[in-house]
Amino acid sequence: MLKIDITRVCEFISKDKIYGKEKEALQMIKKLEDKSGEGKDFLGWMGLPSSITEEEIHEMESISHQLRNEIEILVVIGIGGSYLGAKAVIDALSNNFPWKEYKKGEPLVIFAGQNIGEDYLSELLHLLDDKEYGIVVISKSGTTTEPALAFRILKNHLENKTGISAAKKRIIAITDKSRGALKIMADNEGYKTYVIPDDIGGRFSVLTPVGLLPVAVAGFNIRELISGAREIQKSTTSAVPLLENPSALYALTRNELYNYGRKIEILANYNNKLISFSEWWKQLFGESEGKDGKGIFPASVNYTADLHSMGQYIQEGERHIFETIISVEKTNHNVVIPFDQDNLDQLNYIGGKNVDEVNKMAELGTMLAHVDGGVPNIRISIEKISENSIGQLIYFFEKACGISGYLLGVNPFNQPGVEAYKNNMFALLAKPGYEEATKKMRERL
Ligand code: PA5
Repeated sequence: MLKIDITRVCEFISKDKIYGKEKEALQMIKKLEDKSGEGKDFLGWMGLPSSITEEEIHEMESISHQLRNEIEILVVIGIGGSYLGAKAVIDALSNNFPWKEYKKGEPLVIFAGQNIGEDYLSELLHLLDDKEYGIVVISKSGTTTEPALAFRILKNHLENKTGISAAKKRIIAITDKSRGALKIMADNEGYKTYVIPDDIGGRFSVLTPVGLLPVAVAGFNIRELISGAREIQKSTTSAVPLLENPSALYALTRNELYNYGRKIEILANYNNKLISFSEWWKQLFGESEGKDGKGIFPASVNYTADLHSMGQYIQEGERHIFETIISVEKTNHNVVIPFDQDNLDQLNYIGGKNVDEVNKMAELGTMLAHVDGGVPNIRISIEKISENSIGQLIYFFEKACGISGYLLGVNPFNQPGVEAYKNNMFALLAKPGYEEATKKMRERL
């Protein structure tokens, strides 16, 4: 079971100060449970792990089984909350070198619509030219430019390749139950569709078909993922005291660090399979908390690689940071360091050990060095990387994010700030209806 350790925060802020706010943290959970806080219409994710029905899980498993046998590649089109969760889970669980393996029955899941890269799309089309592929297009609003653009291009490619009626059978849309351009298009074209519930925002949607379908097509056990999330759902209710409630303790601690002047949180991992998980986490906290002139800036590093780049800043740069480590207790594979007769690299002193023993000492040594350098450290441990532990981490962070946003005094479930760039881009592209803004924008540039 996931564990949290704040010992190395208490060298900066007293335990009593943090534990003294137990009531406040648990009240924030109550507010989430009672739906009495801001953003109360977007709390569907709270009960999601336990409310997913057997029928829904079975549907995801059976459609993914069918797809897996028909295609070599699945292209998942989406941006923000419509792709980061699936990518986080798939990258955490996948082989590091997946290109060796993909084929019908073992398809590769890749992503598009998360950028506006012409080279990206061109190279993707080239890859897909001679492949059997399917598309899952995900957009809650149905009007987001990046995925809409990618979908238009890929739909066209697939239709030209297989013919229109065969293409329809290879496209699945995940969108709003009744509104939006994608819903209308899916109905018109007769695509299979799945629903993103009204009360679940993009960044909290990984345990809906948005995340479950791509994860299942990638060949991973969604029951275990959900089961991990359910375990944390139980241990993070308002009835669970602070010390046994990992999400409350994490939310409270990071807010106390923020009040102590630590404006940047660095999520660090010692396992490169968690790189995309950090991207999901950055969206979750950045979009939820960065508003009203407030919020911790979520950053991430991948150790030990980044100890040779960002490590310098973290050790000795401005002291406005704290670190949160995701520590993985056990590896899934073993590699033993061989002895070498010449020992020119002087590594014989660790000969016979597993590589992970070295990684663990790097982790502990870095933690102490950074704490000595003035960087408070929160440690979150999971037993090993598996569907279950990733499910635990997902719900742990989602719940913590809700609590933390309320402690900070913001509405964690909206994202008004993301419209600003879109309006400027539409004006610059001379979208009909933006004439006045187009004139103003062009004058400014
Ligand atoms: O968390 C969010 O709500 C956003 O990141 C959205 O997921 C993102 O903007 C994509 O929106 P949509 O799914 O409507 O295309």
